[in-house]
Amino acid sequence: MPMGVDQGYCATQAVEPAVDFVKPQKDPLPVAKVEAKNWDLETQQPHGGQEWSTISNFVDDFSVTTNFLGPPMKAVAACGTAIHEIEHYPPANFEPYLSELAAWIQPDDYKELHSRLMLGNGASELIDLCIRIGAHQGPFAVKSDAQYKEYERAALADGREKVAPTSGKFGLLAVINPCNPTGEYLPVEDMKKYIERTCKPSTTVLVDESMQLWRGPEWRSDSLVSQRDWVRQMYEEKDIRVYIMHSWTKIWTCPGIRLGSLICPHPKFKSEMLKHQVPWSLNVFALRFLSACIKDAYFMKQTWEACPRLRARTMETLTEMFPDWEFHGEPWLSWLWIDTKDKDVAARAVEVAKKAGVSVGGVQNCIIWGNHSSTQFPDVSHGTCNGMYINKEGGVSTSYAASKKWRINWVAVE
Ligand SMILES: Cc1ncc(COP(=O)(O)O)c(C=O)c1O
Repeated sequence: MPMGVDQGYCATQAVEPAVDFVKPQKDPLPVAKVEAKNWDLETQQPHGGQEWSTISNFVDDFSVTTNFLGPPMKAVAACGTAIHEIEHYPPANFEPYLSELAAWIQPDDYKELHSRLMLGNGASELIDLCIRIGAHQGPFAVKSDAQYKEYERAALADGREKVAPTSGKFGLLAVINPCNPTGEYLPVEDMKKYIERTCKPSTTVLVDESMQLWRGPEWRSDSLVSQRDWVRQMYEEKDIRVYIMHSWTKIWTCPGIRLGSLICPHPKFKSEMLKHQVPWSLNVFALRFLSACIKDAYFMKQTWEACPRLRARTMETLTEMFPDWEFHGEPWLSWLWIDTKDKDVAARAVEVAKKAGVSVGGVQNCIIWGNHSSTQFPDVSHGTCNGMYINKEGGVSTSYAASKKWRINWVAVE
């Protein structure tokens, strides 16, 4: 994972053992081989979720904001069945899966949405495509400098200059709502006002709502997906193009198969981008997986029920231990953004995790506050490492009482 504590991409380096651990009495920690060389930092934007495969005693990975439930089991099974289709091309128009997604997002008029909806090989493909083909030309701005960095990477690669959103000089603005990692969220009416205030005529705004799905059963009504008349009006009256991006790899925990979608402000932008999209960019596994996820209403129900409860409990425990910490983000979000007021704690978390041979997520009870950018911030002070308590100094002990007290295993909670 790109653990960018204080802007240093320390996790991309091979790590020498540097942490003083309390020697465990019974189960010694396995020696890990961490070879975190998955990025070419000269040319690529670091991202979470990269180290797990290089950690020999890997347990878990919290460095991506995926769903704690893991992927819906029925969708995993659908992927398995799709193995029978590998001797055929997937449908180039992504049907019937594209229609199914349109009907799920906009149940009252799926045909209207279908004309504006695109599927992509992860949101990342569509971010790139939209910035190159679907957006107005000119400099770009991002609402928050702490936000997920892929928009910035794609815009810079497209030869755009970065300006402040307040400058009024951009052709393209990228907004992530809720913001990953800060957790800042604008309800839909506030988001509309923000766009109306910030975007001049003949500009493009890309709103990423990948994590908005955690909002609850009424997510649609607080999302721009419910605002098609307003989106049309912005385009027809001001030539402001409002795009809505979704990475489906988060709520359905499937970064490995690459699944994203984009809602265009008008069908003509979809047509324009389709001319530039590589054919069959979603394979049979991704399409079948998507279809099964859409039908799994119970999975969403479980997510909406458990996440706020577990998040509140985590916050409660942390507040007891660290009364001066500040917590940010909506109560329904799947992650916490915390100001621990001590960046040394973050650096220590990385060291401890690697010494123990796990990703930071493998150290249970530790949380990566935010992800996927150089502002990513791990905290270790309340954690256990392979079942052993991690103290504030970054050491570990086998103290059962301590480890029992602080173990927060979300999956086992039920
Ligand atoms: C807010 C947000 N949008 C989009 C993406 C891209 O996701 P993917 O390309 O895996 O669909 C990510 C990945 O971390 C993200 O955090």
